[in-house]
Amino acid sequence: MQTIFSGIQPTSSGGITLGNYLGAVKQFIELQNDYNCYFCIVDQHAITVPQDRLALRKNIQSLSAIYVAAGLDPEKSTIFIQSEVPAHAQAGWMMQCISYIGELERMTQFKDKSSGKEGVSAALLTYPPLMAADILLYGTHLVPVGDDQKQHLELTRDLAERFNKKYNDIFTIPEVRISKDAARIMSLADPTKKMSKSDENQKATIFVLDEPKVIEKKIKSAVTDSEGIVKYDKENKPGISNLLSIYSAFTGESISELENKYVGKNYGEFKQDVADVVVAGLKPLQERYKEIINSTELEEILDNGASKANHVASKMIKKMENAMGLGRKRK
Ligand code: TYM
Repeated sequence: MQTIFSGIQPTSSGGITLGNYLGAVKQFIELQNDYNCYFCIVDQHAITVPQDRLALRKNIQSLSAIYVAAGLDPEKSTIFIQSEVPAHAQAGWMMQCISYIGELERMTQFKDKSSGKEGVSAALLTYPPLMAADILLYGTHLVPVGDDQKQHLELTRDLAERFNKKYNDIFTIPEVRISKDAARIMSLADPTKKMSKSDENQKATIFVLDEPKVIEKKIKSAVTDSEGIVKYDKENKPGISNLLSIYSAFTGESISELENKYVGKNYGEFKQDVADVVVAGLKPLQERYKEIINSTELEEILDNGASKANHVASKMIKKMENAMGLGRKRK
C-alpha cells in the first residue's frame, strides 16, 4: 500500500478555514481507505512566526479534534502532533544542510511572509526543508495539498533527489495531489486573493467552526459582480466562480449543472443556497467536534498516533544518519 503524508498548521482559533477543509481535508478523507496515511498537526511550522503560548496549545487541540470530527478514522490514518515526534526536527536539520539559501529565498511564501517585515525568523526561511523532512520521513508517495503548496512540493522533490544522489538512495520521491474542484478557495472579500487564516478582514474567511448564522452572513456579503448571471468565469467573475466552486465541492454537482440550475435566478437566491449547502455540509463536523474536543478518546488517538509515527520516523532517521555519516557505526 502506498503512503500519504500531509499537514496543517494550528494557527487559528476558529479551526481551519473552508480553504483548508475543501483543498486539503476533503482529499484526506477520500484517500484514507486506499493509502497508508499520516496526517500531522504541524505545530513546529506554526512557531516560525510569533505565537501566543496558550493560544497555540488550544489551536493544536482544536485542529486535532477537527481532523477526527471531519471524518479521519484513527483506525486507518495516523493522526499526530509534529513536536511529539522528534524525528521531524532531526530530519529537518539534515535537510537544511543540503538546501541552498538561494533556493529557499526564491520560495514565494517566504517572500510574502517576510517582505517589509522586521525581525523575520531564520526558521521562516528554513521552513521548506522541515516540510520536506515531514514528508520524506515516512517514505511518502503522495501529498494531498492545496495549490499554494505546489512550490514547496517541488523543492521537496529536489531535496530528496539531491540527497539520494549525494548520499544514498533512501528517499521515495513524492508526488503532489491537488484537488480538482477546490485547489484554491478564494477570499470572500477579495476573490482575487486566496482565502487565508490570517486575513484581517472578518468577512473574508469562513472557518469550519463558525456558527451557521455567521457563515450565512459572510456568504451573503461576499463580493461578486453586477452582471447578475450565475456563470463560472474566473477572470471576469471571480466572486461568483469562487461560490460555484464551494457549492460544487460540497454537493458534488458539477459547475455546469449548477450554472443550469441558476439560469434566470438572482445572486440573492444563489447565495442563500450556497450558505445552506455550506451550513449543512459542516453540520456533522461541528456536532462531532463538540463531542470529541475534551474527550479522552482524542488523547488516546494522539498518543497512539505519536507512538506509531515515532516508530516509523526513527527508522528513517537512522538511515539518514548512516547515509550522512553521523554518529557511530551501528551494527
Ligand atoms: P497550511 O496550514 O497553510 O494549509 C493547510 C492545507 O490547506 C491548503 N489550503 C488551501 N486549499 C485551497 N484553498 C485555499 N484557500 C487554501 N488555503 C490553504 C494548503 O494548501 C494545505 O494543503 N506548509 C503547509 C503545512 C505543511 C505540510 C507539510 C503540508 C507542513 N508540512 C507536509 C503537506 C506536507 C502549510 O502551511 O499549510
